[in-house]
Amino acid sequence: MKEIQERAKIVNEAIKNYLPEKEFELYKAARHLIKAGGKRLRPIIAMMVTEALGEDYRRIMPAIVALEAIHNFTLIHDDIMDRDEMRRNVKTVHTLFGEATAILAGDTLFAEAFSLLSKCEVPGENVRKAVELVADVCVKICEGQYMDMSFESKMVKESEYLEMVKLKTGVLLAASSSLPAVLFGKQECFNPLWDYGIFAGIGFQIHDDVLDLMGKNIGKDWGSDIVKGKKTLVVIKAFEQGIELETFGKQKANVEEIKKDVEKLLECGAIEYARRKAYDYIELAKKNLGCLKNTERKKELENLTDFLVKRGN
Ligand code: IPE
Ligand code: IPE
Ligand code: MG
Ligand code: MG
Ligand code: MG
Repeated sequence: MKEIQERAKIVNEAIKNYLPEKEFELYKAARHLIKAGGKRLRPIIAMMVTEALGEDYRRIMPAIVALEAIHNFTLIHDDIMDRDEMRRNVKTVHTLFGEATAILAGDTLFAEAFSLLSKCEVPGENVRKAVELVADVCVKICEGQYMDMSFESKMVKESEYLEMVKLKTGVLLAASSSLPAVLFGKQECFNPLWDYGIFAGIGFQIHDDVLDLMGKNIGKDWGSDIVKGKKTLVVIKAFEQGIELETFGKQKANVEEIKKDVEKLLECGAIEYARRKAYDYIELAKKNLGCLKNTERKKELENLTDFLVKRGN
């Protein structure tokens, strides 16, 4: 999508500017993943919402980069927790630099994000509210990630899965869509824009879990969730039907064995169920964009929202 690519370029330039490279080894680890690319969805959502609100995103560019810094901090730590070796088609930070350095690399990005937030050219009171919002969101991501890990060793219901993905993924998308309203003092738009991000984030994560099984060239470890025993919506639905998966929780499973389980998940309709749920959440998300005027910018944001569950990586 042209509108995504053009904005991603602007974000990449801003990242170079606001998160500069440094000789010190720690910064090599802290910049490794962010330099490797990624879709830049969170910054792009914030830019599109800002434009749709009739404001200039350049005034809040540090906050836009801060969202990507937070995202990358969570990914670096997530890859340690999930014991994954590849992301964005490169080796994960802990695989290259060791766990201790990867933890520090994530911490560095986390702290840099708050420093950036304070640099926006908007009234100080709005910055204070933005800092509070992003800090609360980071706490919620930790709650979600804790639930994700604890679910590896218990039975999980669909409602519990939905709460977990809302926290680990939804709230950062919600911060991305609602931060412009906070920074530009448009409080009346905050709630719908927040809800938009929550619903879009849930749909996005359900689709990402499907891609973990079905995706080709996703740039990260394929089949990671099933061998780690992750309770995704797909496996929750399969287990409800009494389906048994040979590779579930078996780290040493080979590709052929995983493929057989994926076949079972397709046959029993669990993958189709998850796909449909993801689409439903995307439709719900778009219903919350009523506070934005019907402009070309809003249309672009709606297209981006659809892309969240149509993408192949
Ligand atoms: C990956 O997010 C983590 C999830 C929440 C599923 P993205 O799919 O946005 O990752 P990048 O930034 O494009 O690599
Ligand atoms: C990612 O969930 C959520 C966060 C990083 C907070 P996953 O563990 O499913 O994401 P991937 O598949 O590793 O990108
Ligand atoms: Mg994870
Ligand atoms: Mg992971
Ligand atoms: Mg995943």
